[in-house]
Amino acid sequence: MAAMPRAAADPSPVSAAPLVDSFGRAITYLRLSVTDRCDLRCAYCMSERMTFLPRKDLLSFEELEALALAFIRRGVRKIRITGGEPLVRRDVLALFESLGGRLGDGLEDLTLTTNATRLAAYAGKLADCGVKRVNASLDSLDRDAFQRITRRDELDAVLAGIDAAQRAGLRVKLNTVALKHDNAHAIPDMIAWAHARDMDLTLIEVMPLGETGEDRVDQYLPMTAVRDALEARWTLTDEPGVQRDAGPARYVRVRETGGRIGFITPLTNNFCAGCNRVRVTCTGRIYMCLGHDDHIDLRQVMRDRPGDDEALDEALDRALGAKPEKHAFAISERNAAPAVARHMSVTGG
Ligand code: 5AD
Ligand code: SF4
Repeated sequence: MAAMPRAAADPSPVSAAPLVDSFGRAITYLRLSVTDRCDLRCAYCMSERMTFLPRKDLLSFEELEALALAFIRRGVRKIRITGGEPLVRRDVLALFESLGGRLGDGLEDLTLTTNATRLAAYAGKLADCGVKRVNASLDSLDRDAFQRITRRDELDAVLAGIDAAQRAGLRVKLNTVALKHDNAHAIPDMIAWAHARDMDLTLIEVMPLGETGEDRVDQYLPMTAVRDALEARWTLTDEPGVQRDAGPARYVRVRETGGRIGFITPLTNNFCAGCNRVRVTCTGRIYMCLGHDDHIDLRQVMRDRPGDDEALDEALDRALGAKPEKHAFAISERNAAPAVARHMSVTGG
């Protein structure tokens, strides 16, 4: 099919209408998943024997780039590359190089969420692309517990990755899923460890996304219990200054360590009113909300109408018009089917 003509003089003006949903929320933050694959098998996220998508279903490098540029044109200022594990995708660095070229030119922040197993090899190159911060997932500092949670013995590689990122000048924030059996007792020590190394740490409640072969009710640890344990050890003060940009996280400062703790509590606390984000899966579906199945297939639009920015814009408008007001998670009945059938590794963390 012939490509539609573009405005030749100005290939990607940052002047197109901003993306505003029907609740008046402006979308300035895109989370873009580049793969559903991962080299770990975290028990709350995947089953041990995952079937990954055929490669032809994934967005190509060119499609990822075109999509990201379309979002930047429509006012997205921050892009987070996610997965699966983004660093297992071979051409991911080329995407960082390309989008890094848009920093200061529409884009203000380019970042990624990683499990850090390969971060040691990539940290310097990511910094060279203009990446300033990374979120690294770390659920335990204990080798056995790490292996139990992730089903892989990769703690050393992860710690080396985090070190390398800090040495490359990247700010590292840790994401820790709070698990009743596997890490609950160790969370205060992990926070002390992170804060001693100048890293903030965000605690995440287990969300019911996709089948994993494990019972999430059994692992679910309400954040209120975690917070009580932390308050028995430390003085926590709310951080009002950072809440606006924090998205779903609520931050507190620990007086004794000087560091910050974030809390992501989809189940005990609804944070949707300030939502400024959308997610695009590695297959090019835009999900307007992590907690809903509504989506629009942007890959189809790009494959039907290659190079047609207007068609893509129109699809983005349709998507925004359908962004729901809030998510609808609950972990209630034991062993009930997940609220949302797709895995976090498909939608992007
Ligand atoms: N519930 C909560 N957190 C999850 N993550 C992946 N799947 C889930 C889930 N079902 C976490 C990862 C990573 C972050 C982006 O999301 O551990 O830290
Ligand atoms: Fe936004 Fe949906 Fe997340 Fe709520 S659950 S913060 S509406 S993406």
